[in-house]
Amino acid sequence: MTPPGSKDRIGIVGLGMNVPKKILTNFDLEKMVETSDAWIIERTGIRERRICEPGTGTSDLAYPAAVDALKQAGLKPQDVDLIIVGTTSPDMIFPSTACVLQHRLGATAAACFDLAAACSGSVFAMITAQQYLQTGRYKHALVVGAEIISNFVDWTDRSTCVLFGDGAGACVMTKVDRGGMLATDMGADGSAAELLYIPGGGSKAPSSHASVDQRLHYLRMNGTEVFKLAVRRMAESAKTVLAQAGFGLKDLDCLIPHQANTRIIQAMAKLAGIPMEKVFVNVERYGNTSAASNLMALYEAAQSGAIKRGDRVVLVAFGAGLTWGSILLEW
Ligand code: UT7
Repeated sequence: MTPPGSKDRIGIVGLGMNVPKKILTNFDLEKMVETSDAWIIERTGIRERRICEPGTGTSDLAYPAAVDALKQAGLKPQDVDLIIVGTTSPDMIFPSTACVLQHRLGATAAACFDLAAACSGSVFAMITAQQYLQTGRYKHALVVGAEIISNFVDWTDRSTCVLFGDGAGACVMTKVDRGGMLATDMGADGSAAELLYIPGGGSKAPSSHASVDQRLHYLRMNGTEVFKLAVRRMAESAKTVLAQAGFGLKDLDCLIPHQANTRIIQAMAKLAGIPMEKVFVNVERYGNTSAASNLMALYEAAQSGAIKRGDRVVLVAFGAGLTWGSILLEW
């Protein structure tokens, strides 16, 4: 946690976002699996999601978002000395997507690595970058959350394929004189790993004809259990960061949750005691973009004027692992 009033406060000085052009609507999904626009909207709030063209890498999606964030920060790629990409759908198992992005940007001075925290990826990556910046080890961090999760979704499984979409969000972080990160929280529970996972393609079940035949390379989820845990963990974590900074719910101006689905967000806000008027939601247009979700939502909240200078904003995330975390920001 960063003590409020710390002289070495870390903040966001640039934001960027990029989504693929191709829109997949609920009506398109009706032609692919046995589902309906009405069911998807009622259970998830999602109307459409963006899907990458074949051959696109996560670094390709991340690049325009990173360029925009650097432009807004007034920095050149050479000024960046740390790049962290939160992703669960990297270009390749190795090298990291951060290294691929570094080369494309020409950010030759940057140390680079990916961070695997599934849907908590951008929040975990921002908290990680904050540590390096606060010690003075690095000056300018580029943090990206980017996913092409559509390549890991089983498009014959209606219980999961309607939920996800592709996208990228980016931010530039550095020491700031005002505002910035006031408190952070991260948690994990590996005992629940198999509630949401991709069983194949890693060291335990490497890709093979058999693994592909068994569809092990696709995401699997126990939706009901994930739903309950997401609600509880995000509500607790959001309240934790406010309490750490000595604030209560009345001091919160805007909650920017992981955009998993509207029902999870509403249940979490109710449990935490936060009115929906203070909650930013854009899941209806993008679905669940996993690690990209919090940064994409922060970008749109800033662009739309939903958050303004001086506001107290909480980013709260939840994902496979299980993982969860929050950041309290003064905007
Ligand atoms: O980052 C976190 C990622 N995870 C999530 O966001 C998912 C969390 N879970 C959820 O949001 C919900 O559990 C779902 C939206 C996935 C499912 O909603 P639910 O209210 O929990 O439905 P359910 O799984 O209990 O299924 C109810 C019915 C079932 O039919 P029967 O067995 O009652 O006949 C399902 O087969 O709905 C059926 N169903 C569908 N029907 C139409 C499941 N998916 C669909 C679908 N279209 N796409």
